[in-house]
Amino acid sequence: MTSEAAVREALTRVIDPEIRRPITELDMVGDVTVDGGRASVTIKLTIVGCPAADRIESDVREAVASVPGVSEALVDVTVMTPTERRALTERLQGGRQRTVQFGPDSLTRIYAITSGKGGVGKSTLTANLAVALAGRGLKVGLVDADVFGFSIPGILGIPDAKPTRVGDMILPPIAHGVKVISIGMFVEGSTAVSWRGPMLHRTIQQFLTDVFFGDIDVLLLDLPPGTGDVAISVGQLLPQADVIVVTTPQAAAAEVAERSGLAARQTGQKVFGVIENMAGLPQPDGSVLELFGSGGGAEVAARLGVDVLASIPLSMALREGGDAGMPVVLSHPDNPAAAAIDAVATLIAGRGHGLAGRKLGLTVT
Ligand SMILES: Nc1ncnc2c1ncn2[C@@H]1O[C@H](COP(=O)(O)OP(=O)(O)OP(=O)(O)O)[C@@H](O)[C@H]1O
Ligand SMILES: [Mg+2]
Repeated sequence: MTSEAAVREALTRVIDPEIRRPITELDMVGDVTVDGGRASVTIKLTIVGCPAADRIESDVREAVASVPGVSEALVDVTVMTPTERRALTERLQGGRQRTVQFGPDSLTRIYAITSGKGGVGKSTLTANLAVALAGRGLKVGLVDADVFGFSIPGILGIPDAKPTRVGDMILPPIAHGVKVISIGMFVEGSTAVSWRGPMLHRTIQQFLTDVFFGDIDVLLLDLPPGTGDVAISVGQLLPQADVIVVTTPQAAAAEVAERSGLAARQTGQKVFGVIENMAGLPQPDGSVLELFGSGGGAEVAARLGVDVLASIPLSMALREGGDAGMPVVLSHPDNPAAAAIDAVATLIAGRGHGLAGRKLGLTVT
């Protein structure tokens, strides 16, 4: 005899695609009845018009139909009551009352990608790095902290994605396995964002507070160039973050790049290393065209007393991948730029969770 318990057990395998937890853990399963070979299940979606509704319904139908003895699966889709929804969001937020979810005890490793100058490739590298880390099975979040010049949704191929709101919780869209949030998801079309410092601070704070990232292994932040308001806010909100400084090989860029690392240190952040981008472009005749000179990465790294994590060559495929919304680490993993980014992902993945240098709350008696 097929039991209701067997049906509920099968439903533990249905994962909410946005929250990424089994629907059974999210109290999304209502009544389950089994009558002969006919199983009826009530599903409670978090919100009306849930974008994942069709997917959840078909996954539920499939899971129920897979239970031995079930010949007919009836799925009734309803919506949670406001009270049920509030209980769920409170549970997911772990009782945290609107505070930044990556506190000093968080095991999530955080990397802020920064630079002195603009246009050196921060966003392109951050997006590819995030995708490469997700490809290794890590749970990855990406905050596009460039509020004025957001570009991450385009680079990751989700220019029109909108986050789902569940109560005061914001579920980030997922691109190539990465949970992504960007101001670009909240403004219409090509609207310009021109806010003063306090507003920028509140935006970053809200991304870190209300966006549900869950237990992610790595959080990357794509910063705007320079040492302005956003960099200061990120430094204040996430003092435990490690900073990666991106520079071109140009000697003149080194001094400006060094400044962004020094500014981060003032807020207590550590500089993890330097990525040199737009390095020599290999030519058909075997020579290397050093369009932006050479040595800039090593120079910044020496000034900051850290390592060069990678030197990423100029690459048509990398640029085209950004334009097309298909990161080169996925489309052309053998491309030299992709391989160099992948090496940084290996380095970061190898560092594991971030307890090093943290206060562990132990007292010596
Ligand atoms: N290694 C590379 N080879 C070729 N093109 C690249 C490379 N890295 C980045 N680009 C291209 O350079 C341009 C600037 O890159 P990107 O937007 O990532 O820089 P950024 O530092 O984030 O800029 P901003 O400071 O404006 O935020 C993009 O068109 C990108 O595709
Ligand atoms: Mg950028």
